[in-house]
Amino acid sequence: MGSPRRGNLSLSVITVIICALAIIGLLYSEAISSFSSSTILRLKPCARRNGAKNSVTEDNYAADDRFEFDPEECSLVHGKWVFNSSVKPLYSDRTCPYLDRQVSCVKNGRFDSDYRHWQWQPDDCMLPRFDPKIALRRLKGKRLMFVGDSLQRGQWQSMVCLLDSVIPEGQKSMKRGRFHSVFKAKEYDATIEFNWAPFLIESNSDVHIVADPKKRILKVDSVAEHAKYWLGVDILVFNTYVWWMSGLRTKSLWGSFANGEEGYQELETPVSYTIGLKTWANWVDSNVNPNKTRVFFTTASPTHLKSADWGNKNGTKCFNETKPISKKGHWGSGSDKRMMSVVASVVRSMKVPVTLINITQLSEYRIDGHTSVYTELGGKLLKDEEKADPLHFADCIHWCLPGVPDTWNQILYAHLL
Ligand SMILES: *[C@@H]1O[C@H](CO)[C@@H](O)[C@H](O)[C@H]1NC(C)=O
Ligand SMILES: *[C@@H]1O[C@H](CO)[C@@H](O)[C@H](O)[C@H]1NC(C)=O
Ligand SMILES: *[C@@H]1O[C@H](CO)[C@@H](O)[C@H](O)[C@H]1NC(C)=O
Ligand SMILES: *[C@@H]1O[C@H](CO)[C@@H](O)[C@H](O)[C@H]1NC(C)=O
Ligand SMILES: *[C@@H]1O[C@H](CO)[C@@H](O)[C@H](O)[C@H]1NC(C)=O
Repeated sequence: MGSPRRGNLSLSVITVIICALAIIGLLYSEAISSFSSSTILRLKPCARRNGAKNSVTEDNYAADDRFEFDPEECSLVHGKWVFNSSVKPLYSDRTCPYLDRQVSCVKNGRFDSDYRHWQWQPDDCMLPRFDPKIALRRLKGKRLMFVGDSLQRGQWQSMVCLLDSVIPEGQKSMKRGRFHSVFKAKEYDATIEFNWAPFLIESNSDVHIVADPKKRILKVDSVAEHAKYWLGVDILVFNTYVWWMSGLRTKSLWGSFANGEEGYQELETPVSYTIGLKTWANWVDSNVNPNKTRVFFTTASPTHLKSADWGNKNGTKCFNETKPISKKGHWGSGSDKRMMSVVASVVRSMKVPVTLINITQLSEYRIDGHTSVYTELGGKLLKDEEKADPLHFADCIHWCLPGVPDTWNQILYAHLL
């Protein structure tokens, strides 16, 4: 069966079914985690700063042509992953106590390690190395909050662990809550927080997860239950994508809920997504003072559920993949361009500037970065017989930590410098 290619905007039904099954399976357990990736808001191609060199389309130019990252001038969307075994992650799942079992791949038995040594190298500029001390200084006296799904929770845990590496014992605290978790760096009076809001807008699946996506009902015009956590935060980083991708249509409800969950209408998912994001955007535009608060939005984190997308006919989803895809511009069936364009157009129409952290393309390459069978299900590590059945049990939505979300945070960090 043909996989949707770039430019083909419609999702194939097969993909939807596969995604739906995978998502039911994976999102159901408490393990719903979302990764957020960051993309750059401005899509202007990177201008070469000292226009000395020739054509912008020239592919191979010397590395020293690239200038230090400047969000005004460099898009991080175009680039490649470069392997460097001497680059070590700042933390591991043994040194950082705040990682969920779900993403602790090494603890869970993953033995290949190359996936931890790839660095994202934008074509036209240098992405600064993440320096936790500098990051903490930028965050001094501030609240940074990640809002979204389990992928976003992964990005939050990545940020906490990146910073944790330089904070002495006794100088930090962590309070985990069902909807709101707060990591505090005391000396810096800084907090790194997470708010669980998988659709950003409200739904009947926020408190107790409704396992069957067909029974989920989205209150597309309501956001207050979640937004009460967002007030007064200095840096807000949102995401929402994968939870919308469980079918072609979404049960959407608006107006009064006096008659319970009756009265919903099934809308095409991109339509429902547009209304939901508009609701979020209206909240931001009416409650956020852009002089005080910076707003980021992490674009879709790709899923890798069809190995045929990257030409591995014998493969099973992302299982056993140990190298990124090297083909430039690879785009798989797990990232829906229609949904992406909804984000772009909603954000464009907002009063408050929102910086997109466009992680979709760079994460698309990273078929090797997912938790795969090195994860848990319903709070339990996969059993050997489950590990041997990757078709049903490999998680190709979430990412190992340390891993790809560290790069998303490196991009966020670059924007905060
Ligand atoms: C690999 O990383 C190390 C440490 O950051 C750096 O000194 C070295 O130049 C890098 N090697 C390459 C080939 O980029
Ligand atoms: C933000 O700052 C600008 C320039 O100082 C000022 O004109 C504007 O009114 C401020 N906006 C808000 C919402 O405070
Ligand atoms: C895929 O599997 C077939 C049959 O098992 C085998 O002949 C072929 O070499 C495999 N291809 C690759 C790329 O591993
Ligand atoms: C995983 O890949 C390795 C080689 O990369 C291969 O030897 C091994 O058989 C594969 N495992 C499975 C279960 O396909
Ligand atoms: C993110 O980047 C991709 C290209 O890699 C682009 O297709 C997409 O529109 C961008 N997303 C947004 C929301 O701008």
